[in-house]
Amino acid sequence: MTDNIEKESDALIDPIAATAGFSATESRVAVFGHPIHAMSVAFPVALTFCTFGADALYWWTGDAFWARAALWSAGTGFLFGMLAGFSGTAELLMVSGIRARAPAWTHFIIAVTLLALLGANWGHRLYGYEAAVLPYGILLSALCVGVVAVTGWHGGKLVFDYRLGVSNKS
Ligand code: HEM
Repeated sequence: MTDNIEKESDALIDPIAATAGFSATESRVAVFGHPIHAMSVAFPVALTFCTFGADALYWWTGDAFWARAALWSAGTGFLFGMLAGFSGTAELLMVSGIRARAPAWTHFIIAVTLLALLGANWGHRLYGYEAAVLPYGILLSALCVGVVAVTGWHGGKLVFDYRLGVSNKS
């Protein structure tokens, strides 16, 4: 009886892990081995925090400079976010071991949600950047900070827990 159970569990194979190319996870969208996605994500992350900071300073001081700074950081954050998104999507589609893992798709869904919010935060300010800040601009910025934190943290899990995108060289 025990022997049978042992034999059956030996025969269990994870069908996902058995996929051809499951262990091929090395980045293919890279410059001399340095993944472009990892290099580019710092910009949208930092700019998302800057937008919230500029909104808060506008609320505090009433100085139009901060509302204009928020407009520019929201716009550049969104555009750099799109660049990061393209490099990440190329990685997801081109690398079989990344494509096969569910967490990579979870990251994709969270990141696309973030990009939609970053775009909305920028678009909202394009026709009157000062009036846009209070209350909806700063509320959107706060939401973006929360979602970018989750996206960045989750991206880190992909690299440091699942080792996606890392080199196979020893
Ligand atoms: C929209 C589609 C996106 C896809 C498909 C995607 C996919 C990936 C993949 C596959 C990795 C593993 C490393 C690699 O292979 O390069 C990764 C890492 C990461 N992603 Fe994304 N990503 C996307 C967008 C974003 C965005 C918009 C952000 C943040 C603004 C972001 C933040 C991160 C971070 C922080 C890492 C860890 C980088 C490291 O520590 O080396 N991702 N992403």
